[in-house]
Amino acid sequence: MEHTNKTGFSTKLGVIMAAAGSAVGLGNIWKFPYVAGENGGGAFLIVYLLCVLLFGLPLLTTELLIGKRSGRSVYGAFRALRGNSRWQWLSWWCIASAFIIMGFYFVVTGWCGNYLYEAVLNTYTGMDAAQLTAHFSDVVSSTPRMILCGLVPVLMTAAVLWFDVNKGIERMSKLLMPLLLIMMVVMAVRALMLPGSGEGLRFLFRFDFGRITPQVVMMAVGQCFFSLSVGTGALITYGAYMPKQQSEARTALQVALLDTLVAVLAGVVIFPAVFSFGYDPAEGPQLVFVVLPSILQQMSFSWLSGVLFFLLLFIAALTSTISLMEIAVASLCEASHDRLNRHQSVLIVTAITTVLVILCVLSPRLFSWSDRLVTTILMPLGALSMSLFVGWFMPRLHPALTFALRWIVPAAILLIFLNGLGVL
Ligand code: PHE
Repeated sequence: MEHTNKTGFSTKLGVIMAAAGSAVGLGNIWKFPYVAGENGGGAFLIVYLLCVLLFGLPLLTTELLIGKRSGRSVYGAFRALRGNSRWQWLSWWCIASAFIIMGFYFVVTGWCGNYLYEAVLNTYTGMDAAQLTAHFSDVVSSTPRMILCGLVPVLMTAAVLWFDVNKGIERMSKLLMPLLLIMMVVMAVRALMLPGSGEGLRFLFRFDFGRITPQVVMMAVGQCFFSLSVGTGALITYGAYMPKQQSEARTALQVALLDTLVAVLAGVVIFPAVFSFGYDPAEGPQLVFVVLPSILQQMSFSWLSGVLFFLLLFIAALTSTISLMEIAVASLCEASHDRLNRHQSVLIVTAITTVLVILCVLSPRLFSWSDRLVTTILMPLGALSMSLFVGWFMPRLHPALTFALRWIVPAAILLIFLNGLGVL
């Protein structure tokens, strides 16, 4: 496919940064703390880490491999590798998952944009815990405002994709990822200095095996896929842009490490503050949006810290939405046999995404339903299918990887899945 070669990443670091940019996003900073908070803290963390090792790494490698070997978009990758269209349904599965994720992901990206705007205006300075919680409800219940907030990042993502992959994605990821990491470390240090922070650390790191339930395991598996961007083909798409001599296993390891580091760091920022300010760790999706402003107010240079943090969070979300939208854009170009050029594909995908985002703003039920559907069903089953596909049909793999992909990963996902659904 010429269009994929033309837009290939120019450096190995560029690939790692773009893949890490896809992985690191709201999944780490927004979702991880609230899901961990709802599912027992330490119990969740240990299962999560096991999942990253057991499924996350082999599946990251798998997706990059599918992309690199086929050189195709999600639409054409399975067909190209198998030489027939029997696995075409998996392409559609991935593309549908990407759209469903975009629907709610852009809404939360919009929340970040709103908080960035308010950080600039100093809106939440001086608010206490109760006021911040009430403020969040006010913000999300204003429909026109939420639609505007959700659509701004849609347009920004489309703008990045309008220009070529390497120019847009690579440049942004290389610069901003390290900056986000530094900012998170600074905030973690501040959170640890809060009175009573020890209780938060105990919540996050005390491994109480009694609290590991089927529900906790299922949420941890889903969170692992979501956070690593595994199971919708984002990394197939980027794998196709990888230089041929780059190792997918090593790239997968680097991405998984970075992603896990950011998630744990987010926990170290959030939970000490949760306990110190008297929030409930099981607060739900609004958790970080009420807790973060509390911490930011306590920091020196609080205005600057707030603006910088929400700016970086917003950009981290954008590097993930870029990869999500690119799944659909690259697929559409390929599915149309290049009759649609990149610009036309971007326009069509943007139009569909706009509708989905508006629906998710209008219906909070659709919002939470999409989130649940994706993390508990679509991504695990997508990943399971990719695992079987590569394990059984792709030659010249490391024997340990083949074994894991044929037997261990599918069996484990299936068991957890059935268990979580209460079938076992
Ligand atoms: N991994 C991203 C995050 O943690 C979300 C994502 C999922 C991105 C699937 C691409 C594909 O925020």
